[in-house]
Amino acid sequence: MPDQNAACPVTGPSPTLFTWEFATDPYPAYAWLRKNAPVHWTELPSGVHAWLVTRYADARQALADPRLSKNPAQHSESAHAKGKVGIPGERSADLMTHLLNIDPPDHTRLRRLVSKAFTPRRVAEFAPRVQQLADELVDAIVADGTGSADLIHELAFPLPIYAICDLLGVPPEDQDDFRDWAGMMIRHGGGPRGGVARSVKKMRAYLAELIHRKRAEPGDDLISGLIRASDHGEHLTEGEAAAMAFILLFAGFETTVNLIGNGTLALLRHPDQRQRFEEAVAADDNRLMTTAVEELLRYDGPVELATWRFAAEPLEIGGERIGRGEPVLVVLAAADRDPQRFPDPDRLDVTRRDNQHLGYGHGIHYCLGAPLARLEAQTALATLLRRLSGLRLAVDPDDLRWRGGLIMRGLRKLPVEFDV
Ligand code: HEM
Repeated sequence: MPDQNAACPVTGPSPTLFTWEFATDPYPAYAWLRKNAPVHWTELPSGVHAWLVTRYADARQALADPRLSKNPAQHSESAHAKGKVGIPGERSADLMTHLLNIDPPDHTRLRRLVSKAFTPRRVAEFAPRVQQLADELVDAIVADGTGSADLIHELAFPLPIYAICDLLGVPPEDQDDFRDWAGMMIRHGGGPRGGVARSVKKMRAYLAELIHRKRAEPGDDLISGLIRASDHGEHLTEGEAAAMAFILLFAGFETTVNLIGNGTLALLRHPDQRQRFEEAVAADDNRLMTTAVEELLRYDGPVELATWRFAAEPLEIGGERIGRGEPVLVVLAAADRDPQRFPDPDRLDVTRRDNQHLGYGHGIHYCLGAPLARLEAQTALATLLRRLSGLRLAVDPDDLRWRGGLIMRGLRKLPVEFDV
């Protein structure tokens, strides 16, 4: 195949990254990078420098390269020590040993243990509960009688938090605390770290306590499953189980909020694709709904950049020399619009078949929660379109405000109207 990136008419000066305009629509900047600087050394808003990898082939290779470590201690600038790399508050909260921060063999051991508890079967059995949650949230939207709603606040945000709380075994009376802590984390994800760190600390203390209780009185939930899981006589320690529960919450929450938000917006802005999706919902065509949700993830996925990687030894990506200790950020959203891999990549096509996007990552850190994310997004979108007839945006798309953190991209609000 000829180099479609080289052929693409993307000229002009290098774009300014991480601005308000960039958060609103990063794709022109990504097209420029793919063509002119596919492996690009840049300064991030935090002042830390990192390589951005934007072409699909390089991205896929980097995600699976064992020379790229996930351990922040490998960072040459030791920005982690200053709290500039990683999840806010995770250091002070002693939650470091989780899947996204470790390499084999520790990663292999922990992932095997958690996979024994967090199985696709557990997720499949959870489907009726996710449907019930989605129905309750849409009931509340309808019941207020105004024919309008903010779908982020009223559906996309609460659904994943209640779902993961239920799955983990957080009792219903404590779930609103989680909603508050998660709200603080999402509102200030890219901003002030004090409040976020406090929320992380509270969440951590709560999880430690809950794990202690579940050890004494196990149930049928995921936390009890994590405690029970063993592999060749090995178990998770209480600390490891707490870090694992935390990363399941953290990795599985804002991502799903944004998939539901970005996905709904993409459908509302593409009436022909929305109609195709509605037909699939009406016919209960699970196959097409599944294909559609994968395409929504490729088209405008919530995770722009995969989480941090650091060169444990010098290596080359796309012809650039990466020095030992230098951070590498794989730009999933750019790779997933690479014309070299996806024909007509800027077109939303809910029937797209050959769609090996990188929205859930690739390699040993491939998203552990992908089955749950798919279930939640499909249920939320199908329920919305089935229940709210005449669903439409209540504002001009140009007036929508985006929350652009370094890793995540999603809407602050999604105001809609529907027929009453
Ligand atoms: C890893 C995306 C939902 C748990 C990842 C990675 C990506 C991703 C890109 C790889 C990061 C990297 O390699 O640096 C997403 C998206 C989601 C989603 C787009 C929703 C649409 C979830 C959910 C959960 C979850 C619902 C759990 C409840 C995890 C965990 C990892 C992970 C534990 C780390 C796996 C490892 O390092 O072995 N996710 N995720 N994710 N995700 Fe997700």
